[in-house]
Amino acid sequence: MNKTISQGAEAKIILSNDLIIKNRIPKSYRIKELDDKIRKHRTKSEKKLLEKASKIINAPNPLPLTDSYQIKMPYIQGEKLSDVLNNFPLEKQKEVCKTIGKNIAKIHEADIIHGDLTTSNMILVEEVLDDNLKRQLNKLKKLNLPKEDYAVFGSSPLAIRGLRENHDIDIIVKQKLWDKLVKKYPVEEDKVIKIDFIEIYRSWLPWIKDTDNLIDDAEIIHEIKFVKLKYVLLWKKIHNREKDKKDIELIEQYLKRGDNNSQIFFIDFGLGFISKKIEDKAVDLHLLKQALEAKHFKNWESLFNAVLEGYKDYKESKKVLERFKEIEKRGRYKF
Ligand SMILES: Nc1ncnc2c1ncn2[C@@H]1O[C@H](COP(=O)(O)OP(=O)(O)OP(=O)(O)O)[C@@H](O)[C@H]1O
Ligand SMILES: [Mg+2]
Repeated sequence: MNKTISQGAEAKIILSNDLIIKNRIPKSYRIKELDDKIRKHRTKSEKKLLEKASKIINAPNPLPLTDSYQIKMPYIQGEKLSDVLNNFPLEKQKEVCKTIGKNIAKIHEADIIHGDLTTSNMILVEEVLDDNLKRQLNKLKKLNLPKEDYAVFGSSPLAIRGLRENHDIDIIVKQKLWDKLVKKYPVEEDKVIKIDFIEIYRSWLPWIKDTDNLIDDAEIIHEIKFVKLKYVLLWKKIHNREKDKKDIELIEQYLKRGDNNSQIFFIDFGLGFISKKIEDKAVDLHLLKQALEAKHFKNWESLFNAVLEGYKDYKESKKVLERFKEIEKRGRYKF
């Protein structure tokens, strides 16, 4: 089944089964020969850039070309970032922007200039939760515990990232919350409160003493704090049971893929090109800044700072940033 999902100025986007077909449409105001040439060139160039980018960041890897004006690529099921970013809590917005910065760092490292960095050209893929985990998390949410005072630990931080299934949910809580809970529920073995399949701990001894730090530093996923994988890894390495060894491997592989859990896909490399020039990279960032200002104006400054934080991964980031500031100045005194 074919469905038109977007009709831009340059291209028509059709969803056909699980494939996106991006057709570059003719422009009647251009001489036909020239128009054909331009459309062919852009199609080929975008296909190449997508191919290159998809090896280093999340981006759809195109199929081999079968038509000079058409790119086929996998459909990325998710939300256009421009539609959803403003709805998230600021912390999550910043996390997403940091990931964007890290992605830009990676493509710039490979001299890929995106050319149209806006949140409309990014797709956010929410984690796909299996039914079991979804049910567990809903149950946890129903307990209505104060969100800042607890975090999910144990193996569920792996499950939420799709690394493997979990059986129950372990959470660690701050003292204040623990004091409240012990008045309501019995404490078993002097350390754990069990509510259904949810196990609540104040401390994670003998392995980890300071659980408050783990809670404060946790990542919010589906409105719930999850202990970062690096701490899960630490605990599993100390404990090192047979089943931990497997988990250690899974986490290490996952962290190697990029130390973030967000699934931002970059699309639309139609205005992209290859360049080593610092100026081109700075302009890329400048476009993104303008896009944030326009569409995410409430928090654009802290969001852009989060982008730059992620961008620091790029070894030439300082130079690019200096040039970026010059570009800003030029813009200001243009009139
Ligand atoms: N691989 C994909 N997976 C899912 N959605 C896609 C994909 N490629 C494109 N889209 C959707 O189609 C829209 C337009 O695609 P794209 O940005 O590549 O073309 P465009 O001609 O530049 O469009 P526009 O002029 O609106 O920016 C995207 O904003 C996105 O919603
Ligand atoms: Mg676009």
